[in-house]
Amino acid sequence: MINVGIIGSGFIGPAHIEALRRLGNITVVAICESSQQVADERAAALNVASAYGDLPSFLQHKGLDAVHNCTPNHLHAEINRQILRAGKHVFSEKPLCMTMDEARELEQLAEKAGVVHGVSFVYRQFAMVQQAASMVKQNELGRLFSAQGSYLQDWMLEETDFNWRVVAGKGGESRAVADIGSHWCDTIQFVTGRKIVEVMADLSIVWPTRKASVQGNATFSAQSEAVRYQSQEVTTEDMGFVLFRFDDGSKGCFNVSQVSAGRKNRLSLEVNGSASSLAWDQEIPQQLWI
Ligand SMILES: NC(=O)c1ccc[n+]([C@@H]2O[C@H](COP(=O)([O-])OP(=O)(O)OC[C@H]3O[C@@H](n4cnc5c(N)ncnc54)[C@H](O)[C@@H]3O)[C@@H](O)[C@H]2O)c1
Repeated sequence: MINVGIIGSGFIGPAHIEALRRLGNITVVAICESSQQVADERAAALNVASAYGDLPSFLQHKGLDAVHNCTPNHLHAEINRQILRAGKHVFSEKPLCMTMDEARELEQLAEKAGVVHGVSFVYRQFAMVQQAASMVKQNELGRLFSAQGSYLQDWMLEETDFNWRVVAGKGGESRAVADIGSHWCDTIQFVTGRKIVEVMADLSIVWPTRKASVQGNATFSAQSEAVRYQSQEVTTEDMGFVLFRFDDGSKGCFNVSQVSAGRKNRLSLEVNGSASSLAWDQEIPQQLWI
């Protein structure tokens, strides 16, 4: 059995636990949270034996082999650094970190530690995406001409929708493009086998200020009527319209939005080649996010 620990058990942490348990050769042995109290509550709710409110003690858990980092973006670099320094295999939620320098440093640390390491770009594993990639590999599309698509959600539609992702210091300077556009880019690169090397974008903020609940806003949650709000300036984009070029000179475009009413989590892509085209378009339920 492989013993895995989870850091961060908000929205996506429990999805990791569910996916790991389905593999059959993994035991989720411990949860690490922002405080001992939260860790105890989540470990009890998720039926995990050990709970930690601090990272150093969690990393010393006896027999811990691998760690999944499911914390908010601004914590990724430092937590991944500590996981690697402790010599544990690591699966980090995206983004790996916030800067290219941090990414290079983490890659070197991982190589030095000799551990297995990965970042959670999950759509590559979907059967239809694997099928599309294999069709491109077998040259069924011929010469690549173009790719296009979109990734649309509506969980930030209302002025009162708020989350740490809105705050540049926690989510990063880019929101919609980085949060879900990164999935679109990874998926299209996986399908075509090409790298996106140039981009140009028009970004848009539909709510220049948002009303944040003073009690805090959980990821993908609705607000109750009785909530009190404080206004917060928004500097991260709700939508993005991106033109890009692949490394072979072929071109494409995609748009992302977290304010598209009625679209919960809809990913679509199309690839056009000299011989044929392929297209995939799915409203992906939350249970399939990992
Ligand atoms: N790959 C995907 O499809 C996918 C989907 C959703 C989220 N994500 C990524 O997962 C990460 C978490 O997103 P989320 O929506 O679950 O956020 P969330 O806010 O719902 O959960 C984050 C959790 O981390 C905990 N946390 C905060 N500080 C901590 C600390 N210092 N130590 C330990 N735990 C701490 C919080 O208490 C919370 O439980 C983000 O980086 C996001 O980009 C990826």
